[in-house]
Amino acid sequence: MASCLESTVLRIKRGDTPACRAVKTTARWILKANIPVPRTFKPLLRIAYDVRFYIPVPWRRLKSLLYVHPLFAGRCEWMGKRVQIGALPRINGHTQVYVGDDVRFSGALVVTSGRFCDHPTLRIGDRAFIGDRVAITCNRQVVIEEDVLIASACRITDYDGHPASLEQRMANALPTADEIRSVRICRGAWIGQGSLIMKGVTIGEGAIVGAHSVVTHDVPPHAVAAGVPARIVKEGTTDGSTYRTIPAKARGAEVCRYPGEEELRVRIASAVNRGSSVSPAAT
Ligand SMILES: CC(C)(COP(=O)(O)OP(=O)(O)OC[C@H]1O[C@@H](n2cnc3c(N)ncnc32)[C@H](O)[C@@H]1OP(=O)(O)O)[C@@H](O)C(=O)NCCC(=O)NCCS
Repeated sequence: MASCLESTVLRIKRGDTPACRAVKTTARWILKANIPVPRTFKPLLRIAYDVRFYIPVPWRRLKSLLYVHPLFAGRCEWMGKRVQIGALPRINGHTQVYVGDDVRFSGALVVTSGRFCDHPTLRIGDRAFIGDRVAITCNRQVVIEEDVLIASACRITDYDGHPASLEQRMANALPTADEIRSVRICRGAWIGQGSLIMKGVTIGEGAIVGAHSVVTHDVPPHAVAAGVPARIVKEGTTDGSTYRTIPAKARGAEVCRYPGEEELRVRIASAVNRGSSVSPAAT
């Protein structure tokens, strides 16, 4: 049953009575009200805006130096030199963590183990970068080699979280050895924002994973993989300086994504040539 306050809010939103409508109009006016900023104040306000974001920087640095770094070093089996830590990583469970030199943790990192195996190990190599809101599930081993870049909001997992078999899920059974498979991200690889690296996957040296990809199979060295599930879209040379694009058809990608797309592309191209524009909504 709706509370008295909820029903009053509902009546105001609907504007049931003249009084309700008056309250709604006033509330809208208050929500949208702005103080006009004279142009002469703009330079001063611009400085104030920048200062607002720079003031916390020395404080965060001090907090990292005196509190975050010592605590995290205490939790790690090994902590290298010159490690930069934006926020205290959260290690849920018994994962043993090894961190190399010059590693940068830009924000919140969560490492979780389900306490299935002895000595689950997370190794982070020298100069690796771990973005904000990265989550790592480590039940056996996750290795992030030197110079790897992991963008924000990525997830790396060596176990799916629950057994695939319905019976085992219902019985709340522990995973079998085959269901926990180590993950390795090799030297110099770059994992795009929001990607998911699944169990058993090896990302080859210097490879790139496109943003928001779901990687279910190994990615060869110096290749670019993207999509859900990730497919190899480019093959690279060993020095990573040039790439050969794999045609969409050859990689089984859907070229035409909705009926009439090809026709629309032709119309847009001819409109662009004529110097006018066609709205997709007009088709
Ligand atoms: C993977 C990436 C580097 C490729 O860039 P690129 O070399 O310029 O590649 P292209 O734009 O030529 O794309 C090649 C093909 O891959 C596809 N592709 C690229 N990125 C993709 C992605 N994230 N998901 C799905 N497909 C993708 C393109 O659609 C294109 O397919 P097509 O040939 O069928 O048209 C880039 O798309 C990317 O995702 N960068 C990560 C950005 C990021 O996360 N930054 C965070 C800050 S560290």
